[in-house]
Amino acid sequence: MDFPLQPQVLAMKPYSPGKPIEEVQREFGIDRPVKLASNENPLGPSPKAVRAIQEAAAGIHIYPTADCYRLRQKLSQTFDVPPDQLMIGNGSEELIHVLGQIFLGGPEDEVVVGDPSFPRYAAATRLAGATLRPVPLDSGLRHDLSAMASQCNEKTKLVFIANPNNPTGTIVFRDDLISFLRDLPAQVVTVLDEAYFEFAAHDARMPHSLELLRSGERVIGLRTMSKAYGLAAARIGYGWAPSAIASAMFTAREPFSVSTLAQEAAIAALDDVDHAQATLRNNAKGMERLIRELETWPAIRLTPSWGNFVLVDVGQPIGPIFDQLLRQGVIVRPGNQFGIPTSMRVSIGTDEEMTRFVEAFRAVMRLEAPV
Ligand SMILES: Cc1ncc(COP(=O)(O)O)c(C=O)c1O
Repeated sequence: MDFPLQPQVLAMKPYSPGKPIEEVQREFGIDRPVKLASNENPLGPSPKAVRAIQEAAAGIHIYPTADCYRLRQKLSQTFDVPPDQLMIGNGSEELIHVLGQIFLGGPEDEVVVGDPSFPRYAAATRLAGATLRPVPLDSGLRHDLSAMASQCNEKTKLVFIANPNNPTGTIVFRDDLISFLRDLPAQVVTVLDEAYFEFAAHDARMPHSLELLRSGERVIGLRTMSKAYGLAAARIGYGWAPSAIASAMFTAREPFSVSTLAQEAAIAALDDVDHAQATLRNNAKGMERLIRELETWPAIRLTPSWGNFVLVDVGQPIGPIFDQLLRQGVIVRPGNQFGIPTSMRVSIGTDEEMTRFVEAFRAVMRLEAPV
C-alpha cells in the first residue's frame, strides 16, 4: 500500500538510542549490565525529585499547567532571567524540534551544524523540509567555526552548536565564539545547546549562552534536566531566547507536553544542590580515572572531554568491540552511529561501573594492564 508520506521523512533514519539494559539482560542472560551509552546520571535522580513526583502523582487527573508557571518562576529566580525569555519543553529535544518549526519553512531555509553532532538538529531541519549544511569537525574533533561561518549565507536561519559537543565532548571557547557570532549574516540565530553545561562550567573559557544573550547577541541557549540533574525519563528541557522567540516557541509547542510530574521533579531537583554537586564530583573523579586507565594503552586515542562522557578511538572497527563488550555486560555507544567507525562514546559511571568497564575493555582488547 502507498501512503502520501513526506519524502524528507522517508529519507530519514530512525534515532538509534543506547541499547536498553533489559535488552542486554534478555539477549545475553546478564544479570546486572552496566549502561554507559546515553550520558545519564550514574547517581540516579535527586531523592527530592522522586518525592516530588510521588506527591504530585495523586493530581495527574488534572492537565498540567501549560505555561509551567511554578517551574518558570523557579528557573527565572535560579538563573536571573526574565520569565518571558524562558522556554520549557518535553526534553530539550522538543525545544530543538519546535525551533525547526518556527524558523524553517522549506528547502530555501538553511541550517548549519557541526558533523558529527547531536542528531536531532538534522532531524528538526529535515522535518521542517529545510536544507541541512553539515560542516565536518576539525582535526581535534572540535566545531570548525571558520568553516561553519563560511557555510552561512542569506538563506541561513539557524546554526546549532552543541557546547560541549555530543559525541566528542569538545567545547568552543568564548573568544572564538564571540568572533564567530560577529561574522555571521545579520539574520542568523545561533543555538547554543548546553545540555552538558554543568560539567564544563568550571572552565573559564567556557561561554555562557545567557551572558551572550544579555549582551545582545542573537543566541538561544538550551539546557536539560536529563544529564547533571538525573531526570532523563521525566523529560524536561529549558532554555532562554530573546522574548519574541520564546513567545513564538510557546505558541508553536504542544501545550501540555511537559507533565505535572516533570515540572514538580524539575523544581525539586533545581533545589537539590547537594545532589548536583555530588554528580559533578563523581564525574570529575570518573573522568580522571578513565583517562588514567586508558591513556597509556597503545593505539588508543582519547578526545579531551568537557562532558560526562569520553570519545575513545580504538584504532580499529568498533563493531566487534562493541559486541564483545555487550557480552561482558557493558553497554557503550558505538561511533559508527555517528560516522566515526573506530570510536566509541563511553559515559562516566560510578566507581563500580568504571571498574566493570575497564575490566571488560581490557579483556576484549586482550591488553595487559599498563605497569
Ligand atoms: C547535545 C544534546 N542536546 C540535547 C539532548 C537531549 O536532551 P533531552 O533529554 O533534554 O531531550 C542531548 C541528549 O543526549 C544531547 O546530547
